[in-house]
Amino acid sequence: MLMFSTSTHRATAPSRRSFLTGLGTVIAASSLPAWTAAAHTGASERVAIPAGVDPAYLRGAVEPFARTSIYVGQRLSLPMIDLAFSKEAAIPPHIWGMLYDDWAPAMEEEGLSVFLQGLENRGPNNARKRIYTSALTPDLYREMYAPKVRVFLDELFREDHAGEPLMQHYYDAYFDMYWDLHLGVRGDDIPDEVREIGEAFNTVLGFWDPRTEIVYENYMRVRELRPRLRDWIDDRVQDIIDRNIEHPERTFVHYWIENGNLDDDFRRKDIVFECFHNFLAFSQWGNTLYNVMARLDRREGDPVVQEWFQRTMENSPDERDDGAFTPLDRFVMELFRTISPNEGSLSTVENTQEGVTGTSFVLHPHPETSEDERHWQNPGAFDPDRYRTTPTAAAIGEERCAAIGFARCPFETASFTVEDGRRAELPNNGFGTVFATVDGQEQPLVDHAGYAPFGFGYRRCAGEWLTVDVVKDVLRKVWDEGIVFERLDLDEAQPLPVGPVVVIEDDIAFRRA
Ligand code: HEM
Repeated sequence: MLMFSTSTHRATAPSRRSFLTGLGTVIAASSLPAWTAAAHTGASERVAIPAGVDPAYLRGAVEPFARTSIYVGQRLSLPMIDLAFSKEAAIPPHIWGMLYDDWAPAMEEEGLSVFLQGLENRGPNNARKRIYTSALTPDLYREMYAPKVRVFLDELFREDHAGEPLMQHYYDAYFDMYWDLHLGVRGDDIPDEVREIGEAFNTVLGFWDPRTEIVYENYMRVRELRPRLRDWIDDRVQDIIDRNIEHPERTFVHYWIENGNLDDDFRRKDIVFECFHNFLAFSQWGNTLYNVMARLDRREGDPVVQEWFQRTMENSPDERDDGAFTPLDRFVMELFRTISPNEGSLSTVENTQEGVTGTSFVLHPHPETSEDERHWQNPGAFDPDRYRTTPTAAAIGEERCAAIGFARCPFETASFTVEDGRRAELPNNGFGTVFATVDGQEQPLVDHAGYAPFGFGYRRCAGEWLTVDVVKDVLRKVWDEGIVFERLDLDEAQPLPVGPVVVIEDDIAFRRA
């Protein structure tokens, strides 16, 4: 998900360098041979390691971090990533210890995420992806998930939170929503340690550099608590199987069980794994919300975005006019294209040089692709109307592929019928993109290289519809309740990790106008 670029966010996050310095405690002392950190900081730094740091951490996290190089790949011309760029184990290696006991992938024994799998290992026709996506098609949102999101938003925008840095309140309420969506559990039913591991996980993701004390401490805490987390999730999965909770159909896990049948393409241990691996995916909502607020901020935000917001909300935001999307869909999509919370699609690639042992990574950049002049007449403008005419996934079939010069579709088309009682299909198109039809109706998804924020092709984000729906609900609430955002003039704002390699200063508040 780049998730995994090595830079901080462009617009609002402090620079990676200033952050590391600001953090103060870079681990310092002996035991490792001195190594350089050029790939990560842009400068050649020698950092020594202090006594007392667990040697397994040095071997499992610090050393791989120092060895990892991520090469920036091409801006894509088509919304498709070739299979030579693989998702298999495509995660910066210093993160493995957060997911697996032995600091290295043990997918067979301990479970896995579709996110870490090459297409060739996902079962027939990207089966694992389709099973995952069956929990996230847009028809489910209003009835199953929106009530949980509404509880979260009501809590976030409580009147007594007005005037205070908002992102702290976001994280106070966040894990209730997270576990409610996955497992139907909230409040006192979430043990303190389960909340704690989530926070520790997010802290590592945001601060990222394993040579910092904050990352070390939180990383080790994740490792300590993970066995208990897995057991707790597994018990909750059993509750869903036994229908031992109210409305199991309002959880992701319900659909993974119904449509994966706990078979090889989505084993029970994979369900457990996905439930905590999603700390990564969901962490991007924090970054997104912060950046949306920053643009809507009356004083320092973006007047063009604000004007579009007003125009959109005053003119039937939810009525589909021409094209596949509603005005509010288009506005949110343009926010995503321009905010681009996810820096790029990360792949592993084969190395042709014999004797090279490390993994090589390529990152296809998202912001640069979304802003490429090959794709739009006006790439630099904030213009939601651009999505009135862009092709949707369902339009990319044999004919379209032939028209752009392919002898055949690069990806074979197949479909998957859900088994959970709905009339829903998950086909893929000629570029490999999985989309959905419900009751015979296409659920539109822009499929265009100029729209990069959720990635491309067979590996495009499975949580895109949900994410867009959530942001639409945020905006409806902001509009309906006259909420305005204002950057606070604080002497010292609290740094908060809000996504992979992104730490913001918690300095935006809301009030009701
Ligand atoms: C702001 C929010 C989000 C953004 C910007 C985002 C972005 C992305 C991107 C760019 C990819 C493709 C990565 C690649 O090809 O290397 C991706 C993949 C994925 N995302 Fe998201 N994501 C978000 C939220 C979510 C959520 C909430 C979920 C789950 C509910 C989710 C589930 C996934 C999964 C499972 C994949 C892997 C798909 C595959 O490899 O087939 N994402 N996401």
